[in-house]
Amino acid sequence: MTQLITKAIVPAAGLGTRLLPATKSQPKEMLPVGRKPILQHVVEELQAAALRQILIITGRRKRVIEDHFDADPQLVAALKQAGNEAMLADLDYIEGRSRFFYTRQSTPKGLGHAVSLGADFVDSDDCVVALGDSLIAAQEPASLLRAMMKAHRQLKAAAIVAVEKVPLEEAFRYGIVSINGAEPPPGEPVVMTDIVEKPPWGTAPTTLAVAARYVFSPAIFEALDRTLPDKRGEIQLTDAIRLLIHKGEPVYAWLLPPGQRRYDVGNFESYFRAFIDFALADERYGYLVRKYIKAKAYEL
Ligand code: UTP
Repeated sequence: MTQLITKAIVPAAGLGTRLLPATKSQPKEMLPVGRKPILQHVVEELQAAALRQILIITGRRKRVIEDHFDADPQLVAALKQAGNEAMLADLDYIEGRSRFFYTRQSTPKGLGHAVSLGADFVDSDDCVVALGDSLIAAQEPASLLRAMMKAHRQLKAAAIVAVEKVPLEEAFRYGIVSINGAEPPPGEPVVMTDIVEKPPWGTAPTTLAVAARYVFSPAIFEALDRTLPDKRGEIQLTDAIRLLIHKGEPVYAWLLPPGQRRYDVGNFESYFRAFIDFALADERYGYLVRKYIKAKAYEL
């Protein structure tokens, strides 16, 4: 049995141009969804999946990320003095449960390039990659990665990639995965036969889109080294996964089961949708939001 996975890479160095002006001086990954920045949701999911070492790939104008995950003794002392237990509990994500590491991607040369910067950190271990702008919503968000990591260990896989079904007309926005047969069973590893990054409109082989969570063996770093930049000069993670498949390495897709959903916060429509759903589900304020939206719906 191979060792348990403890390391995760979180790429958060993209420019976020589709969310300008909100992302002019503020990283997209730090925009709030509900009461927390997107990246904090991601980190809490990783912590709940027992990933103890988290490498965040940052970049220019992304310093607030390090501040957010750094202890703030002055703030803690002030909250303690005020007896504000609820807010102290809200800062729990900082303490103890994982160690944070940072490296900078000076030029955003693509998701694959960002992940490749984690090679020394991961070394000869298996690792998780979780995109810093994408959330998993579920009763227990970490259950997805836990199940994927278990399957990865059992199968000695090179890669397991979470996927979800998207409408055909949106397939051109995503990495699209092929499998044998039409419909993969949800929540199980299914052999991936091909993967293509953002297929041109009308050419998508399936509607199974890569869903921002991956488990990799170190073979991914060698594949990334061999991956050529695309037309835009970016090194794509999907192209490296494709190399693994073509080399005959065991690569699997994992369809999100019912009750689990990915939100990627890449554009304003998806951001608003994520915010509304998380606000509605908020355990502290959700009932107020639900009341407000019900009243508002009459005006629409
Ligand atoms: P996107 O593909 O949404 O790209 O990144 P982007 O640059 O952030 O956004 P746009 O296209 O300019 O609007 C998906 C994830 O991969 C990270 C991003 O930070 C985001 O979390 N990423 C992307 C990097 O870390 N480096 C890159 O070079 C590209």
